[in-house]
Amino acid sequence: MSLFKRMKLLLFLVSQMAIIAFFILLYPHYFKPPPPEEEPKPKPMHVLVLSSWRSGSSFVGQLFGQHPDVFYLMEPAWHVWMTFSQSSASRLHMAVRDLIRAVFLCDMSVFDAYMTPGPRLQSSLFMWETSRALCSPPACNVFLRNEIISQPQCKLMCSKEPFEVVEKACRSYSHVVLKEVRFFNLQVLYPLLRDPSLNLHIVHLVRDPRAVFKSREHTTLELSIDSNIVMGPEWKKSNKDQPYEVMQVICHSQLEIYKAVQSLPKALRQRYLLMRYEDLVRDPVRQTAQLYEFTGLKFLPHLQNWVHNITQGKGMGDHAFATNTRNARKVSEAWRWSLPHEKVSQIQELCGHTMNLLGYRLLKSKQEQKNLSLDVLSTWAPSKQDDQEG
Ligand SMILES: *[C@@H]1O[C@H](CO)[C@@H](O)[C@H](O)[C@H]1NC(C)=O
Ligand SMILES: *[C@@H]1O[C@H](CO)[C@@H](O)[C@H](O)[C@H]1NC(C)=O
Repeated sequence: MSLFKRMKLLLFLVSQMAIIAFFILLYPHYFKPPPPEEEPKPKPMHVLVLSSWRSGSSFVGQLFGQHPDVFYLMEPAWHVWMTFSQSSASRLHMAVRDLIRAVFLCDMSVFDAYMTPGPRLQSSLFMWETSRALCSPPACNVFLRNEIISQPQCKLMCSKEPFEVVEKACRSYSHVVLKEVRFFNLQVLYPLLRDPSLNLHIVHLVRDPRAVFKSREHTTLELSIDSNIVMGPEWKKSNKDQPYEVMQVICHSQLEIYKAVQSLPKALRQRYLLMRYEDLVRDPVRQTAQLYEFTGLKFLPHLQNWVHNITQGKGMGDHAFATNTRNARKVSEAWRWSLPHEKVSQIQELCGHTMNLLGYRLLKSKQEQKNLSLDVLSTWAPSKQDDQEG
């Protein structure tokens, strides 16, 4: 091979290498994929406040609902129950579960099945005005997102918004919190706990069955449709033991839920928090801090101020809070004077297991019932035991 040919070959090889080097070293710089438009949003948190009637769940709902990071709805499954008011709680369980799942994912088309056809407003939703999120942008532009909003004012100003704003509002929050009294076991919720598209956390709010019974006595008529669904259509309504039977079913379901949690794998058990209404009444600021911590919410200064105000009897709140903390406890234990001991002892017979497990002391006589230095909360508390387990 002549020198000239060798030079040509060398030149050829060098140029080829240059082209290869260009592709290896520079190509990625020229054809880098465009950066993502925005950071992927953290996965939303889904919180179910699981409770029963007259157990302070509206108040706990407010503690969540007034938080500026929370989209809150109170009792969305009310629509399911009122559509099928001749049915039973167990038959409606799955429909309620599926509705809750859709609402957690901000799919409000699920309400189509339970509302009359035609144009509807956000005010077609049961108790929509309890949701601060539906009283502020993007749902309603009258109030600010980060202020405490009064329900009557919201009802007055925001009731004409179209139904579509509900979904839009829901999608703009990091937390969706739903309050429900219409679940009677935990098994029905297992698929939601394991659902990879959800990040479900459960706050199980319980209250002393004797106080619940007393409160239900005042609201028998209001609760009658619900009570019939709890008991099912075969239930004999003429029975005078009716209130006790309903109470027994409620106590039993609280017990079943609590026991089912203990047999869950640890990773799932950590997504459950039991709270007694009585503990909340005695120390609202501390217990609220616990609720927020469990669900990854900041206890913002204006919320601390608000909760503090409520316990001082200022502003809105459950009637038990319309006074100072010491009196709040008195109100929450009013049944000890007003409920005859015969009734107390009948409830204790039906709900004894539940009461023992949840740390409510049984009162064995009229004297014990009226002796207020005898605390109804036993020193053992379910939450303390959970702490020890780690
Ligand atoms: C708390 O009460 C004070 C005094 O009544 C009032 O000025 C303040 O606005 C209240 N704060 C909240 C967040 O409700
Ligand atoms: C009330 O209960 C306390 C605490 O158990 C007890 O020491 C006291 O003797 C009781 N008082 C009456 C009048 O029974």
